[in-house]
Amino acid sequence: MKNSILILISCALFSLSTAASAQEQSVPFPDGYRNWLHAKSMLIQPGHALENPFQGIHHIYANALAEAGLKTGKYEDGAVLVFDLLNYQEKDKSIHEGERKLVGVMHKDSKKHAATGGWGFEGFSGDSKTERLVKDGGASCFACHTSEKDKDYVFSEYRK
Ligand code: HEC
Repeated sequence: MKNSILILISCALFSLSTAASAQEQSVPFPDGYRNWLHAKSMLIQPGHALENPFQGIHHIYANALAEAGLKTGKYEDGAVLVFDLLNYQEKDKSIHEGERKLVGVMHKDSKKHAATGGWGFEGFSGDSKTERLVKDGGASCFACHTSEKDKDYVFSEYRK
C-alpha cells in the first residue's frame, strides 16, 4: 500500500515537472529545416558587431508560412525562420563550412510570445535538438530585432 502511494505521488510530480518544462521550452526544434526555402547566407568575420556569438557562415531558412512572410512583410502564426550558424576554415583562397555552432530559431505564435513581438526566440547548441541557449525568454534577441519592426522584426528579405 505504502509503495503504491509513493508511486502515485512520484508519477504526479513527474507529470507536473514535464508540463512545466514543456511550457518553458515553447519553441520546438525546427525539424526538417534543411529542406525549406534557403533565403540567404552571410559570412561574419572577427571585428563585426555581431562577432559574438554570430561569427561564422550562416544560412537562413524559411518554412512555407515564413516564405509568404518574406514576400509580404507580415508573418502568420506557425511561420518559422532558422539561422543555421557554422564555423568556417580558410583553405587555398577559399572558405569552407565547418562544424555547426548553433541553430537560431524565430517561431511565430502571437499569443504565446506577445512580449517579444509575437516571435518565440530560441537557440540550439551545435547539433543538439535539446540543449537550449536562450535563458531570458528571448528578450535580448528581440531587443536587437526591434529595429526591423516595420518588417515584423525580420531582417531578411525575399530574393529570387
Ligand atoms: C545585435 C543584433 C542581434 C541579436 C542580439 C540577435 N539577432 Fe538575430 N539577426 C540579426 C541580424 C542582423 C540578422 C540578419 C542576418 C542576415 O541578414 O543574414 C538576424 C537574423 C536572424 C534570423 C533570421 C530571420 C531574420 O530576421 O532575418 C533568426 C532566426 C534570428 N536572427 C534569431 C535570433 C535569435 C534566436 C537571437 C537570440 C539568441 C538573435 N537572433 C539575436 C541581429 C541580431
